[in-house]
Amino acid sequence: MKQSKFEFEYEVYDDISQLSKEDADLLIRARGATANAYAPYSKFNVGAAALLVNGEYIAGTNQENASYPVGICAERVLLGSAATLYPDIPLIAMAISFNTAKEKSNHPISPCGMCRQSLLEYETRFKKPIRVIMGGMEGKIHIVQSSRLLLPFAFTSDELI
Ligand code: THU
Repeated sequence: MKQSKFEFEYEVYDDISQLSKEDADLLIRARGATANAYAPYSKFNVGAAALLVNGEYIAGTNQENASYPVGICAERVLLGSAATLYPDIPLIAMAISFNTAKEKSNHPISPCGMCRQSLLEYETRFKKPIRVIMGGMEGKIHIVQSSRLLLPFAFTSDELI
């Protein structure tokens, strides 16, 4: 038996003032997008914003449903819009934020497992890593240089070919 280890690096920022202008701008867009979430059941509003290689921005918000499992996360709403509007243009980065009356939005939110799987597929499809900027309405921010890092032992299309 051999013990193996998985390690990855991520950046930690105390607040938005420490980010590059490009990343700060994206996080501001994600924070703003939380206002457009449709989350009457969880009351957990999520906003995502992405910068594309062609300089365009796309936003996404979570869209819930009375039939709970039908709801979609902000990140996957965004990826669906990006792939539809700009089918050949890779994403450079995606910022995510949240807002809820239940707790203070002062720490980073990170994408759920399903969204990590979708982000990985997008990266693979466009052969470009997506930088993920994870924040809240205020406070600390985490950044990974590729969404792949968030999903070790990922299931990929390699198994299907
Ligand atoms: N949600 C997202 O939109 N993105 C995530 O990464 C985590 C969870 C949404 C789904 C649901 O509408 C609400 O947050 C509470 O889980």
